[in-house]
Amino acid sequence: MSDINRQLVLRERPHAEVQDSHFELREGEVPTISDGQVLLRTLYFSFDPTQRGWLNDVPSYMPPVQIGEPMRAGGVAQVVESRHPRFRAGDIVSGTLSWQDYIVVGEQGISGLSRVPKGVPLTWPLGVLGITGLTAYFGMLELGRPVEGETVVVSGAAGATGSVAGQIARLKGARVIGSAGGPEKCRWLTEVAGFDAAIDYRNENTFERLHALCRNSINVFYDNVGGQILDDCLLNMAQFGRIVLCGGISSGYGLDLPPGPKHYMQLVIRSCRMEGFIVLNYLDRFPEAIEALAGWVRAGEIRFEEDLQEGLENCPSTLRRLFEGRNFGKQLLKVADPPIAVS
Ligand SMILES: NC(=O)c1ccc[n+]([C@@H]2O[C@H](COP(=O)([O-])OP(=O)(O)OC[C@H]3O[C@@H](n4cnc5c(N)ncnc54)[C@H](OP(=O)(O)O)[C@@H]3O)[C@@H](O)[C@H]2O)c1
Repeated sequence: MSDINRQLVLRERPHAEVQDSHFELREGEVPTISDGQVLLRTLYFSFDPTQRGWLNDVPSYMPPVQIGEPMRAGGVAQVVESRHPRFRAGDIVSGTLSWQDYIVVGEQGISGLSRVPKGVPLTWPLGVLGITGLTAYFGMLELGRPVEGETVVVSGAAGATGSVAGQIARLKGARVIGSAGGPEKCRWLTEVAGFDAAIDYRNENTFERLHALCRNSINVFYDNVGGQILDDCLLNMAQFGRIVLCGGISSGYGLDLPPGPKHYMQLVIRSCRMEGFIVLNYLDRFPEAIEALAGWVRAGEIRFEEDLQEGLENCPSTLRRLFEGRNFGKQLLKVADPPIAVS
């Protein structure tokens, strides 16, 4: 066990995109624990677009990260010392951590930690069996509700959430069209993930391709992107269609949010429903969803990619990758090699 704890703390709030200079690398001693606490050693971090929102000093579904605090992040860690009956040294857990090598979790945070089951690859609880997989599951099945023969469009389709959402719709018998940036991601969608068609929004005219593929016949639009593609899909919805507002990453999640969609009156004309959600609304149903997702993954019915960066110091640039479209699949970063020998 290293005797230094490195932390990346928020130095300054970004206005637009995240820069390395918004964070400061500090070094200190590994913290000690008291009764009721556990000491964790970080193994992997998850990178999620919502983290950009946590840097804005505005009310949201979670409190903003404060200046001087280590950046909040989902992660997988190993228990190096435990003074809490629920965990033992050596256990591997997933939960909300922060950008540092070691973290002390007390009574309050312990309820949010889950033991990673034996046999499950350590990164899966951060992606396909974690927040992004769960978001796809509940967003598609509870809000989108595709049925056999319907047409489903997914934006951000090659990403961690979009790729799973589209494949769930395919498993329900829908015809699935995804939009993604670049030929490589589009090829993956049709050749690996089983999408019926892919639109390369960086190199093709999205509106024209939507018209050609699904003019006025989109039953479900699962939107991760917002902005122009939301308007393009609004103009091509079928009667009684559903628009699932999962995210709006094209806004960059900075302080300057774009105005709403221009063509929202299509919701009235075509009797459509547009609804947003936060995956945490379904917390009590996570076990059921994880079981279903794990079954599909084991059966080879859901395919996914992981994009693994390395090194705690690279956390800010890794977060940026999501907004630059540089990640191919679930964005992760390895901090330490698992498992670590526990003394
Ligand atoms: N509602 C919830 O509870 C919830 C929970 C988790 C995630 N989400 C949302 O789900 C979405 C996907 O998140 P994720 O974690 O799975 O990330 P991800 O899709 O794996 O990665 C983000 C992707 O967004 C795309 N992107 C970035 N900037 C863009 C732009 N200006 N226009 C179009 N596409 C852009 C990029 O793909 P391309 O190469 O295709 O551009 C990038 O790879 C996000 O909107 C996120 O906020 C919502």
